[in-house]
Formats: sequence, C-alpha cells, structure tokens
Amino acid sequence: MITVEGITKSFGSLQVLKGINLHVEKKEIISIVGASGAGKTTLLQIMGTLDKADRGTVTINNENVSKLSDSKLSDFRNKNIGFVFQFHQLLPEFTALENVMIPALIAKVKESEAKARAKELLDMLGLADRIEHKPNELSGGEKQRAAVARALINNPAVILADEPSGSLDTENKEELHQLFFKLRDTLGQTFVIVTHDEHLASITDRTVHMRDGLIVENDSSMP
Ligand SMILES: Nc1ncnc2c1ncn2[C@@H]1O[C@H](COP(=O)(O)OP(=O)(O)OP(=O)(O)O)[C@@H](O)[C@H]1O
Ligand SMILES: [Mg+2]
Repeated sequence: MITVEGITKSFGSLQVLKGINLHVEKKEIISIVGASGAGKTTLLQIMGTLDKADRGTVTINNENVSKLSDSKLSDFRNKNIGFVFQFHQLLPEFTALENVMIPALIAKVKESEAKARAKELLDMLGLADRIEHKPNELSGGEKQRAAVARALINNPAVILADEPSGSLDTENKEELHQLFFKLRDTLGQTFVIVTHDEHLASITDRTVHMRDGLIVENDSSMP
C-alpha cells in the first residue's frame, strides 16, 4: 500500500532523514516511535505528500507520488490520504458537520451527498447530537473524533496520524485508539501512526523505531 525508498531530507545543513526505507501493507496499522527530533513528523509529512523529499520515492496505492505535479498531488492527497494531527486543526468558524464536509466539497462531491456522508460518519463516531456545534463547543475527545471523521470522508486508503491522542486524557485516548482498529476492520484502511504513547505502540501490528533520521532495529534510547 505504501512504499518509501531511499528518502533523504535536509533543512539547511541539518540532515533530518538519512535514507528511509519502509513498506506498509494494505490494512496494516503501524506505529512510528522515537525520540523528539528523530524525524518522525518529517517522514510522515513526506509520506503524506505535504512535503517533498530531497531524494527517494514514495509510492502510495501503486502511484509514484514523487513524480506527480503539484496540482495532481493535491488532488491525489485529497482522495487517497486522510490526516489526523495532534491538535485537531478543525476550522473554528465552521460546525463539526461543515468541517467534516469540507474535504468532500473540495473533491467536488455534491453538497447533499457530502452532508449525508458526513452525518453518517459523525454518527458512527458517536457525535450525532454534536454536529451543529463549533469546535470550541466540543470536548477534546469530540474534536479529535470530528477530525477523524474529516480524515475519513473521502474514503482514503491511507490514514496518517501524528500523535493523534497526544492532547487527550486516558479515557478519550483509549477510545480513539480502539476506533482506529475498528475502522481498519470495517473500512479496511491502512494506518501509519506517529506516537509517544507506549500502549498504543504496543497494540499496533508493528512498531518502527526511528533514531537520528534512520529506522533502527531497536531504539535503546527509548524509555
Ligand atoms: N521546516 C523545518 N525547518 C528546519 N528544521 C526543521 C523543520 N522541520 C523540522 N525540522 C527539524 O528537523 C528535525 C526533525 O523534526 P521532526 O519534526 O521530524 O521530529 P519528530 O521526530 O517529529 O519530533 P517530535 O517527537 O518532537 O515531534 C528536528 O531537529 C527539527 O528541528
Ligand atoms: Mg513530530
């Protein structure tokens, strides 16, 4: 589903990724762990086509995205990749329902269809009675679930999450983690989750350790 080959990335004179190779199977849920500054977010952004590598290729769903033009890339991203960030990044002036609909509207789905699908997802995520509320009227867990619904609206094959439960309390954290597995089982998504949460890492199918811009077998610097 996702193949990353020979990825390098520098910011100025600082080489942040030093040759990353990684393959993720369809319906696999992997976690990426490693110390702060190891390059996890940078790798995820490159896998998600939000940033470009200096060298190497990223293949998603049989498409070599490293070769796509910028306009094709945003279209590809909109249809194939869902993002969940540490802080929900919902738009404050829109309701939960509208926030979830936005990626579908960008993909030129009819408004009535986008609305129906957004409602269905919010319902599935236990937010049926919160859909008309704006983000500042939702709890942290509710906001994060709305962000997951937004990530799912275009049925992406791949969900990339960067510390998705980092801002949640224990209960909401656990619920969100269970949700990822439920989604994989029902909708068949592939997940790459960057996390500092040891429990989450322990329940994923596979954990990839990063250190200083490289994937390492086992990271002894981890707690
Ligand atoms: N846009 C940028 N410009 C310059 N340096 C950057 C930029 N983005 C990241 N870096 C640097 O690259 C390194 C890796 O950053 P990255 O965000 O990938 O780390 P991380 O593993 O996600 O860390 P954390 O666990 O703290 O989120 C860090 O030293 C960071 O300061
Ligand atoms: Mg990070």
